[in-house]
Amino acid sequence: MINFLASKFIKNYNDTENPQVQSKYISLSGVVGLFLNLFLFASKLIVGIISGSIAITSDSFNNLSDSLTSVIAILGSTFARMPSDEKHPQGHGRLEYIASLLVGLSIMYVGFELFKKSIDSIKNPQAFTFSILSIAVLLASILVKIYMYKYNNDLYKRFDSSLNEGVAKDALNDVIATTGIMISGFVSQYTKFNLDGIAGLLISIMVFKTGFEFAQSTVSILLGEAPSEDLYDELGREVMDSKLIRGYHDLQIHNYGRGRVLASLHAEIPYDLTIIEIHNEIDEIERRVLEKYQVDLVIHMDPTYSIKEGKTSEKNTRLIDLSGNDQDREKIKEAAEKIKSGGLVVMPTETVYGLGADGLNPDAINKIFQVKNRPNDNPLILHVGEKDQVEKLVKSIPDSAKLLMDKLWPGPLTIIFEKSSLVPDEVTAGGPTVAIRMPDHKVARELINLSERPIAAPSANISGKPSPTNAIDVYQDLNGKVDIILDGGVCDIGIESTVVDTTTKAPKIYRPGYYGLDTLRELIGDFEYDGALVKEGEIPKSPGQKYKHYAPEADLYLFSYELNDQVKKMKEAFDEYTSMGKKVGVLVFEENLGAFSGEYIVSMGSKADLREMARVLFAKLRELDRMGVEIILAQGVEEKGLGFAIMNRLKKSSGGKIISND
Ligand code: TXA
Ligand code: MG
Repeated sequence: MINFLASKFIKNYNDTENPQVQSKYISLSGVVGLFLNLFLFASKLIVGIISGSIAITSDSFNNLSDSLTSVIAILGSTFARMPSDEKHPQGHGRLEYIASLLVGLSIMYVGFELFKKSIDSIKNPQAFTFSILSIAVLLASILVKIYMYKYNNDLYKRFDSSLNEGVAKDALNDVIATTGIMISGFVSQYTKFNLDGIAGLLISIMVFKTGFEFAQSTVSILLGEAPSEDLYDELGREVMDSKLIRGYHDLQIHNYGRGRVLASLHAEIPYDLTIIEIHNEIDEIERRVLEKYQVDLVIHMDPTYSIKEGKTSEKNTRLIDLSGNDQDREKIKEAAEKIKSGGLVVMPTETVYGLGADGLNPDAINKIFQVKNRPNDNPLILHVGEKDQVEKLVKSIPDSAKLLMDKLWPGPLTIIFEKSSLVPDEVTAGGPTVAIRMPDHKVARELINLSERPIAAPSANISGKPSPTNAIDVYQDLNGKVDIILDGGVCDIGIESTVVDTTTKAPKIYRPGYYGLDTLRELIGDFEYDGALVKEGEIPKSPGQKYKHYAPEADLYLFSYELNDQVKKMKEAFDEYTSMGKKVGVLVFEENLGAFSGEYIVSMGSKADLREMARVLFAKLRELDRMGVEIILAQGVEEKGLGFAIMNRLKKSSGGKIISND
């Protein structure tokens, strides 16, 4: 019958691949179901009253509740099409839920009344006549419901429609219920047990339950139900499919009823896109989401420290964006091939970006020194992907080193060993020791493992400048000078690894970093700090100690933590330099921002969050340089915990221009 009606009422009824045709099939099945149920309701109500059977009467209401749910489904799409007006800018889609709630409550009421009648009938069984007519009507009802089960199940299988699945299940329940009534009718007629009241009771509970579930499902939507996880995932995937979008956050979905779903999210985009480019892209995504999911999406854009994918400068540096998905592996493989053939690849690590080359290839290592303009008496760190890669690079692994590797690797800790003959002199600047680190960053480790050799990598900046902690800062220093820059977002830690020497009797820290003396002493009691800036003419144990480092172009004045009236003194200096006509930048904690007013006042986050300060420090110094300031006034922190490493960097940036009490 459905197919016959379809051929009459549905245009292109054969084109069942077409979603519009599918939805017409589904609507048609609803209309057919509505009429069949109304027919069953009327005929059973009449038979129920004539025969005096509460069970048959209850069953008729069971069918009525089914037809009412179809009415609501049909009304729902009508409400959704009603245009919005001034008072209801989101349209009238939610009317469907209000209607459903009322219908659900009415069905519950009917179920309750039938329940009471059934109880009465159990208490005082009434004789009823189980006539041929009753039998015929019940039999017809069973056949109709079997038919409804069949065509709904068929549509469910063809179009995967959950609406039809629900109706099919319901029809099957009705077949069982009506069969039960038939049996109870026969039993009551031919034995002395009158089961009519009990059958009525069971059916009334079914009716009540239908109403309850119907009302309940709409109540939670009316209250503002969370949209399905699937929709969140699907919208997220749709957005991330874009080549230009690096990430997203704060995805919100508001449901105002069928066809009226609003969503918004913040998309993270490379900083160097033109407004036109990103606008076109966002428009395109919004249009696609509307078409595919009928969701009205609004995308807000957040520029990030990343660069447009695939942009190749005329100088042939390739930028590769890694977004954390499956395609990354292929891209990293390409970079690993570059390493193997002696090229230069910048890789993200958890501390800072590293300028990587094959750690066993002297020519490749020499290129690093050239590109960075690095003094060649300053040795490099070899990066390994797994702990067992250390063995062949060193003469032996002292117990203290073993312990540190066990507890703190992978992580921001570099360990100095006696080198094996495999390690070229170019890495160690001719020295007998080699520094090794296993970074805690998926991309770095994958690159090393795919390259099948240790990667020598100093920080990816021109020597003397602050280390880069994001791809833009790398790009500024090294565009055109390296083969590939792998863009892995912002580095989590932000300052370089702690460098420790385990070849000496008591292990020593040469360069403070994320791990301070306190942490290391918890593992090995007699750790020492040996990080004094080396004086002219002396030979440093770790050559890195002797250079002025991390310095912005501007002159940086560091206001020490112990300084009385630290912020007030900074403010005085700010006013003085400003009145001299200088362009003055200020680097302060959020809590002290209010003390300054000017164009180049930059926050390092809250005083209470030194991790944040470490994360942003180098990037902010570079930002101030880009703003073109001549002087930077920086607020010092207490030299404790991570503050010790931070102050080590700031002191070097200042080149000794430290304002303290004496
Ligand atoms: O977090 C880091 O360590 C980053 C990322 C990329 O891993 N790398 C880094 O490398 O900061 P670089 O080259 O900028 O700093 C290496 C430091 C220098 O101070 C150097 O003097 C010291 O390690 N170093 C390297 N080999 C040494 C050795 N054999 N003996 C003493 N010091 C050494
Ligand atoms: Mg460096």
